[in-house]
Amino acid sequence: MPFAFRDVISILDYSREDLELLFKTTDKIRELLEKKSSLNYLDGKIAALLFLEPSTRTMYSFQTAVYRLGGKALVFTSEQATSLAKGENYADTIRMFDSYSDVIIIRSKYEGTARFAAEIAEKPVINGGDGRHEHPTQAMIDLYTIRYFFGRIDGLTIGILGDLKYARTIASLLYGLTLYNPRKIYLISPGVLRLREEVRKKILERNLPITEVSRLDEVIEELDVLYVTRIQKERYPDPIEYEKVKNLYKITPETLTKVKENFKILHPLPKIDEIDPRIDNTKYAGYFQQAKLGVPLRMALLLLVLGLWR
Ligand code: NCD
Repeated sequence: MPFAFRDVISILDYSREDLELLFKTTDKIRELLEKKSSLNYLDGKIAALLFLEPSTRTMYSFQTAVYRLGGKALVFTSEQATSLAKGENYADTIRMFDSYSDVIIIRSKYEGTARFAAEIAEKPVINGGDGRHEHPTQAMIDLYTIRYFFGRIDGLTIGILGDLKYARTIASLLYGLTLYNPRKIYLISPGVLRLREEVRKKILERNLPITEVSRLDEVIEELDVLYVTRIQKERYPDPIEYEKVKNLYKITPETLTKVKENFKILHPLPKIDEIDPRIDNTKYAGYFQQAKLGVPLRMALLLLVLGLWR
């Protein structure tokens, strides 16, 4: 039982077999949801959702997952709503939610917050994103979505375009991909947005076959998947630095004239203006389906983490 009562902090804490168990459980949940079966496995359970940074998908899909499983959720979305605003420290806040709930899902702009919470809490803690560091459950969804569209992850050519420097979803996805055998990973970025050294080091140690290129048109014809992110505006210490990078890439229908038949664009969302909305209704847009798969995957994860399904 690789998930039961364990904290979900980094995707690197899991093996390929562990993820396969999660994905099979997600398949099963999707089947049950389609059949409208009763899924009240979280009856009597409470999840605490502490989201100290804005969130649409992560927070509401976790909340939806809890409700769909018949559980209840304590949700707070700003420090102002808790005694953190009075100066209470994180440790005491976590202690309280640990005593009120069965699982804590936390997002914060600070790297290491989820790990810190996990050290204090006895209940399992799930990292909903900690600064620029990691977003493990998003990477689980991303990998599951690739498997959903292609039936496999091994052998695929995946391009990653966006804010490689600050997007935590990219770091976690790259770590997750080290558990598989993709044919090639293209890191596509103008120099200023390149991957941070600490992330590059970790994926190279794990032999991920990365090639860094600066332009999408150099590689687009080879790609099975293109993973895009927005520029992570809030992580730029200096607004001038953000201004310099904000319009560096945009995918338009013209960009996609030579792509492979089954080519898919994934994006953790929110997208701002890096993908032309005319792409949304094409067969290449995989991102809305990806967001939708977040609910069954998070349901599966909650069941496994709470030891309710094996
Ligand atoms: C991402 C995040 O919060 O890191 N959003 C998400 O959880 N789907 C991506 C982003 O904010 O750009």
